[in-house]
Amino acid sequence: MPIVFDKENRVFYLHTKHTSYIMGFLENYLVHVYWGKRLEDIGEMDTAVPYRSRSCAPYSNPENADLQADHIPLEFPTYGSTDLRMPAYHAQYADGSTVSDFRYVSHRIFGGKPILKGLPATYADESEAQTLELCMRDEKTGVALYLLYTVFEHKDAITRSVRVENNGTSVVNIQKLLSANVDFYGMDYDLITLCGATIRERYVQRKPLAYGTMTVESARGASSHGRNPFIALVSRNATENSGEAYGMSFVYSGNFTAGVSVDLYDMSRMFIGLNPFDFNWRLEAGETFTAPEVVMVYSDCGIGGMSRIYHSLYRDNLCRGKYAKEPRPVLINSWETVYFDFNEEKLLEIARNAKEIGVELMVLDDGWFGERNDDKSSLGDWTENKAKLPNGLKGLADKVEDMGMKFGLWLEPEMISPVSKLYEEHPDWCLHVPGRTRSLGRNQLILDFANPEVCDYIYHVIRNILKSAKISYIKWDMNRNMSEIGSAYLPPERQRETAHRYMLGLYGMLEKLVTEFDQVLFESCSAGGGRFDAGMLYYMPQTWTSDNSDAVERMKIQYGTSLVYPALTMGAHISAVPNHQVHRTTSMETRGNIAIMGQFGLELDLKNITEQEREAAAECIRRFKALRNTIHYGDMYRLNSPFDGNIATWQFISEDKKQVVICVCNILAEANGPFHIIKPEGLEPDGIYEDTENGIVRKGSTLMQIGLPHLTPSDFGSKIYVFNKR
Ligand code: DGJ
Repeated sequence: MPIVFDKENRVFYLHTKHTSYIMGFLENYLVHVYWGKRLEDIGEMDTAVPYRSRSCAPYSNPENADLQADHIPLEFPTYGSTDLRMPAYHAQYADGSTVSDFRYVSHRIFGGKPILKGLPATYADESEAQTLELCMRDEKTGVALYLLYTVFEHKDAITRSVRVENNGTSVVNIQKLLSANVDFYGMDYDLITLCGATIRERYVQRKPLAYGTMTVESARGASSHGRNPFIALVSRNATENSGEAYGMSFVYSGNFTAGVSVDLYDMSRMFIGLNPFDFNWRLEAGETFTAPEVVMVYSDCGIGGMSRIYHSLYRDNLCRGKYAKEPRPVLINSWETVYFDFNEEKLLEIARNAKEIGVELMVLDDGWFGERNDDKSSLGDWTENKAKLPNGLKGLADKVEDMGMKFGLWLEPEMISPVSKLYEEHPDWCLHVPGRTRSLGRNQLILDFANPEVCDYIYHVIRNILKSAKISYIKWDMNRNMSEIGSAYLPPERQRETAHRYMLGLYGMLEKLVTEFDQVLFESCSAGGGRFDAGMLYYMPQTWTSDNSDAVERMKIQYGTSLVYPALTMGAHISAVPNHQVHRTTSMETRGNIAIMGQFGLELDLKNITEQEREAAAECIRRFKALRNTIHYGDMYRLNSPFDGNIATWQFISEDKKQVVICVCNILAEANGPFHIIKPEGLEPDGIYEDTENGIVRKGSTLMQIGLPHLTPSDFGSKIYVFNKR
C-alpha cells in the first residue's frame, strides 16, 4: 500500500516505488520526519526527530519545555505557534489577531486523486494513485486546514495541496497560504532555480545554501520569464546522474514564491506556494479556499533522475486532450515569416511552399483581425480584417485544408488595446485602479478576468471563432505583465484577491474551451516563455518556449526548461538567419537539430532561402517525423550542459530501449580540438546498437563506457546520432 498509517506510533508513511515521505507527531505537533529514498520504518520518533531546549525559545507545554516548535521540522507551520520561522499559513481573524493553533483532528486515505476545483492539477485514477487527507483544526476560530497528499506510486511523485475551510462564524482574511513546506536538518545543499528574462528564459542557476532566505518569486501576474515556479534542492555532490535531488514544481501560472530559508540551527525550510505579497483572501463563514498544487519529486539518481520523473508525470498525468498522446503536427508559423505584412494570397503561398517540404499545419499569427497592422491596436476586436482576408478565416482555412494541411490561429484573448471597439464600449473591463494611470505594455491593457462577465464575453468570442472555421490549433498568447492590479468588479476589501481571481477566471475559461474543443491543439505563449509552467500545461500541452529562436540561445533555454518540462511541451522552430533576435547566422542543420529536440516547427519564409537550405529544412522535417516518438515519449538524459562549456548534448531513449537519439551541439569551433567523448546512458548493456549513419554496431555497454568520439570543427556545429537496437 502506498499510504500506511502506523496507528500505534501515529506515523504516516507515504511510499512510492523508490521514495518515502514520512510524518508523525511530537505531542500535538504534526512533524515532518523524512523525505528521501524508500524507508519502511523510522524507529522511535524521538530519535528520528531530535530536539533540545534552546535559550530564548518559547514552548507551549510547561511539562515538556524542551519541545519548542522553533527547532523541530514542522509539516505545515502556521503563524502564532512557538515556531518563530516564516510560516506556511498566516491569517487575520475577526478579533484582529493573527495567531492560530491547528491541531490534528482526523485523516482519511482513499484511492485515486480528487480534482482541485477550478485549478489545474495532475490527475490519476484509482489504479495510479492514493490520497491522504489530513484535517487540522483551530479550536478558537473553527477554521480547518485540510492537507492533501497524493502518492503516484509508480511515477515516484507526490503532490500536495491545502484547503482552508472556514467553519467559524466570521470572516477570515488569509494573508498567506503556501502549498508545501518541508523542513530538512542541515544546510549542505545547493539550490537550483530557473532564472532569466524575456528571450533568455530559464537559465539554470545553482547556488549553495547560506543563512537567510533564498527565493524566486513573481508578482507580475504571470509565473514569468524571469523566475520559473520550480526549485530543486540538491546534495552538494549531485550531478546529472548521481546524488540526491528534491524538486518542487508549482502547478500555477500566476504570482508565486518558492525558496529555502536556513534558520539559526542550520535547518533548511523549503517552500512553495502563492506569493503572499499583495495577497489577501476574504474567506466568509462557510467558504473554502484551495491552494494550488505542488508536485514533489525526490531522486537519488541526480538531477537527471528528478527531471525524468517530472517528464513522465507531466506527459501522462498533466497534459490532456487528443495531442497528449498523439504525434503533434509539424507547423509553420507566419510571425517571423511575414509579421503583420500578409494577405490571403501570401499566406497560401507560405502554406503551399511549406506543404511541399512536409509541413502539416499552417499557423496564422498576429495581425489577422480588426485594424491590426502593427501592435498598436485592435486587441479585443476579434473579427477578420477583410482587406487582408477577403474570404474570412473560413475561406482561408478551407483552402489550407484543401491543400491537405491543417489550419491554426493566434489569439491574445486576455488583452485589450485602448484603440479598439471593445475598449470604447467597455473602458472598465481592464485591470486598473480608478484615478490612477493605466500603464501600457506593448501598447495594451489587460482584461479583468477577475470579472466573470468579461470571461464570459471572451469565452463566447473564442468559441464562435473556433466554430466559424476549421481550426485545428490555437496559439494563446499573452504579451505583458500586470501593473495597477485592481478590478472594477471587486469591492475595496477584495482588491487584493484580483491577481488570483484573474487566474481562476482564466483557468475556468480554458477548462470550458479545451473540453469542448478537445480535438484542437492548444499552445500557450507569453511573449515566448513568460508562462511556461505546469499550470498552463494542464490546459495546453505545449508552450512556445521563447521568442528567441536563435539556435545557440535555444541550447541554453531548452536545456534549462528540460529540468522540469518534457521535450514535447517545448515549441521549437527553425527561423531565418541572420536571426531576428540576436542577428547570428547558424546553419539550417543546427537550427533544425535544436528544433528537433522539442516540438518542431518553422517560422521563416521558404521562398527567401536557397534550394540547398530548403532541402536541409526538408531533411530536418523527415528526421523529426522519424524520431519524434523517441524524443517525445522516451527518457531524456542531459549529457553536457551548455552552461558549463562549449557543447550541449541531449540524449533520448525510447521506452522499449530500441532507439537512441543523441544530439550534440557546440558553440564555437575548437582549433585542432580534442575528442569530446559522449557517453550515452540507460542503454541495455547487452543490447546490440547500430549507428544508422554508418552501420557500425556496438554493444550497449561499450557505447556507454567507451562512448562516442565527437569533434567540434565549426562554429555552431551540431550532429544527431541515431542508434537502433538490433
Ligand atoms: C509574442 C509571441 O511570443 C510571438 O511568437 C508572436 O506570436 C507575437 N507575440 C505576436 O504578436
